[in-house]
Amino acid sequence: MLPSKVSIVEVGPRDGLQNETLNLSAAQKIELINLLSKTGLKRIEAGSFVSPKWVPQMANSDEVFQALPSRTDVQYSALTPNIRGLETAIDAGVKEVAVFGSASEAFSQKNINCSISESLKRFEDVFQLADKNNIKVRGYVSCVMGCPYQGDISPKAVTQVSKALLDMGCYEISLGDTIGAGTPRATSLLLEDVLKDIPAQKLAAHFHDTYGQALVNLYKALEYGIATIDSAVAGLGGCPYAKGASGNVATEDVVYMLNGMKISSGVNMDRLLTASSYISEVLGRPPVSKAANALLAK
Ligand code: HMG
Ligand code: MG
Repeated sequence: MLPSKVSIVEVGPRDGLQNETLNLSAAQKIELINLLSKTGLKRIEAGSFVSPKWVPQMANSDEVFQALPSRTDVQYSALTPNIRGLETAIDAGVKEVAVFGSASEAFSQKNINCSISESLKRFEDVFQLADKNNIKVRGYVSCVMGCPYQGDISPKAVTQVSKALLDMGCYEISLGDTIGAGTPRATSLLLEDVLKDIPAQKLAAHFHDTYGQALVNLYKALEYGIATIDSAVAGLGGCPYAKGASGNVATEDVVYMLNGMKISSGVNMDRLLTASSYISEVLGRPPVSKAANALLAK
């Protein structure tokens, strides 16, 4: 049965902007995040604390977090790949973080410079310090429906890493179709396996739209009871370590679909369009969202 409510995790300021060639200033990011915070979105991934040599676009995340007003209605979060990242995040006032692993050995090496098992070992320290500081930890698993370096990925491999991350202390696992390779059939095969071990309430769908399959895959995920969706305003982004990966599914497209299906997300479309127009103007191009372009043309 389809869920009656969906929680959207807005990842544009992190997943989106990490892959834009234009490096945004902290002030521009803060403006975007503040506009998004007025839309009804309750969860916004606002940056990441990774090596600036690897992802220079996120180098000002500490400045961004320090300047964000503290709100009770919106939870801001950040990626922290290691203890160093978490320490910096804590200093910047971050209250929720995410670790990111992969179901693909090759992608793990390219993205975080270690094997899957080494990454889990690294995360142990992150969980310990997070626990001490009352910080919630979300877990990402990348390449759940294909890897740019390794090709096919078995659902079993995804279930295994997801289960390991949950057992270590993640409150939720976000299943990343990093290169948007999935189809509804692949989504079914994946979820049939993952749901044997993990309840739908602990899962999120994080689909990139490289092949235009994200919405139809999300519909499939909704049918399996997944009620948390990651998306990026204006369809920003991609992944710097997945060549050819285009942006996350656009938040505007997700909200349009959910509204039409009478599934509540709490997001106000007009306000979302304001945020979408703002960032598109900064980047000098129209939103990568069919719904946004159609609605803005009215
Ligand atoms: P490493 O080279 O193995 O680590 O990188 P290291 O400990 O040897 O450190 C190397 C350098 O980085 C050192 O600096 C460290 O100080 C520095 P140097 O001595 O060369 O000047 N360093 C740091 N600096 C700032 N913050 C830190 C930090 N840690 C080390 N936290 C590391 C390991 C993980 C750091 C590196 O590989 C990295 O930063 N990778 C970033 C990967 C990334 O951000 N990818 C994009 C996000 S994941 C994604 O988009 C997928 C997702 O959306 C889901 C999906 O779609 O599938 C989540
Ligand atoms: Mg992603």
